[in-house]
Amino acid sequence: MTRLNPFDHGGPVSGEHFAGRASEGAAVVSRLSNHIGVVVTAPRRYGKSSLIKQATEVLAASEPAPAIVHVNLLQAGTLGTAAELMVRRHYQVPGGPWHRLKNVLPGFVKRLRVQPTMTIDATGSPVFSFAPSVGTPDLQLVIDDVYATLNEIGARRPAVLFLDEFQAAVELDTHLPRQLKALADQYRNVSLVLARSKQHVMEALVLSQGAPLYKMLEQIALGEIPVDDWVPFLVKRARRGGRPFAEEGLARVVHEMAGPVPFDVQQLAYEAFNQADTTIERDTLEVALSELVRHRASDYATTFEGLPAGGRRVLKVLAAGTTASVGSAEFATLARLSDSSSVHKAVTQLIELELVVLRTGVPAIEDLFFAAWLRVVLDEH
Ligand SMILES: Nc1ncnc2c1ncn2[C@@H]1O[C@H](COP(=O)(O)OP(=O)(O)OP(=O)(O)O)[C@@H](O)[C@H]1O
Ligand SMILES: [Mg+2]
Repeated sequence: MTRLNPFDHGGPVSGEHFAGRASEGAAVVSRLSNHIGVVVTAPRRYGKSSLIKQATEVLAASEPAPAIVHVNLLQAGTLGTAAELMVRRHYQVPGGPWHRLKNVLPGFVKRLRVQPTMTIDATGSPVFSFAPSVGTPDLQLVIDDVYATLNEIGARRPAVLFLDEFQAAVELDTHLPRQLKALADQYRNVSLVLARSKQHVMEALVLSQGAPLYKMLEQIALGEIPVDDWVPFLVKRARRGGRPFAEEGLARVVHEMAGPVPFDVQQLAYEAFNQADTTIERDTLEVALSELVRHRASDYATTFEGLPAGGRRVLKVLAAGTTASVGSAEFATLARLSDSSSVHKAVTQLIELELVVLRTGVPAIEDLFFAAWLRVVLDEH
């Protein structure tokens, strides 16, 4: 019998698929309940979207029910699509004042100064669209109107505008961050929530002095989920799925093998569950790891081949787990580079490419599955 896998590494997770982050979650819920905006930053696949999803679900289970408008700017791709999605999600807000009207849809659309075209989708819900001829100034008016109406709702209950993948904002419209700043200044009943991983982009838009949204939003920087939060989660999920860990210590090994990225932990656990017969054994984890490395091998090879020779050698030395520190002459020798300043240059480039990260100040390969792949390549040569 195929069992439903209890681990989830697709999109954002919440509820029983969500581990740890109790204090960060409580911090977000409390900010959103009090009309305070937040910006969540973390490296990619650390669980930014999941944290907001979890927090909005907790909020949605309490009274008064919140109004949440959520748009992923990267997926939207254009300002027009972002505006359409905002209007659609806004219309769907449960208990919006227009839902009390006899003519719900015209009542809602009346609040917009720029009129969308409306069609009905297969589920019977309205879809709003703006013709390509509708220019940026008009689309900005749409965003103003959604924000203003959300603010009206916010007088009585939490109201949230969540813009995920906010680094894409300027690609949609260079003025969007400034516009949001002006809106957030004017309308105090809306919590503006932004999430994004690319630290330097976020800094330019939100975090640095002079950035439009500086000081407007509270920053929540997500770190790792501690192993002590992972272990009970992994043990419980595996048991729930019907293939428990042979011993609890193995859940710790999953975390050790996968590294700090939550996506990787869930993916390894998912694969181990698939590979397991009745229980997850040590061997199962080894097989699962090599399976994952095999799946990703062609991507890893492409990435590796695209690097300069020095960078490739530095990666190999890091993957082999040398005790020599990166700044030492021994490291330069191992990487066959002329001196430690050449090592430094190569490491800096690898950090820019997000292949290497600083863990407690020490350069380390970001993706432990990539490190495992490199070790296989090393063995073969
Ligand atoms: N708190 C958590 N508990 C368990 N798994 C998590 C948690 N947070 C994230 N994950 C895992 O990581 C995956 C990615 O999470 P999510 O999409 O929230 O990350 P993200 O930081 O928004 O990523 P991106 O940078 O791609 O937008 C999830 O599918 C899940 O497997
Ligand atoms: Mg995300």
